[in-house]
Amino acid sequence: MSEAPRWRILVLHGPNLNLLGWREPEVYGSMTLEAINQRLNALAEARGATLRLVQSNHEGVLIDAIHEARTWAHGVLINPGGLTHTSVALRDALAAVALPCVEVHLSNVHKREPFRHHSYVSAVALGVIAGFGWRSYTLGLTALLDALEEERSV
Ligand code: DQA
Repeated sequence: MSEAPRWRILVLHGPNLNLLGWREPEVYGSMTLEAINQRLNALAEARGATLRLVQSNHEGVLIDAIHEARTWAHGVLINPGGLTHTSVALRDALAAVALPCVEVHLSNVHKREPFRHHSYVSAVALGVIAGFGWRSYTLGLTALLDALEEERSV
């Protein structure tokens, strides 16, 4: 009999990430969002975690999911997409629920246009992983679960 999952994580994918695999593959890679989610689920299972995966092109839907996470989640893994660079409201939602959060980006936003260099989310995140394609997500989930485990053991 396998052990009950210890960690419940909300994974949020922001606007346009539903188009992964097809959208600017030279920037974001050729893996679809579904394939990334499968890899995340496999990693979660191996690490004793369960994921609730949400993609939305609507800021309010992402904010509602963050508010709800307060009642059930231990942490949040988020790729805010373009909202990274524009959304005070998303940042405020993450600050309000105060769940440990890791921000990820497929591309290295710091190597790109100047408007991508600032993130409203980073200041309320434990850390940021950018530039490793789909692996940014698995690295981010690993970092989040490591941090949760470390916190529990102290
Ligand atoms: C992104 C980077 C953002 O600047 C962009 O708007 C995205 C994707 C990334 O994963 O590299 O939609 O978050």
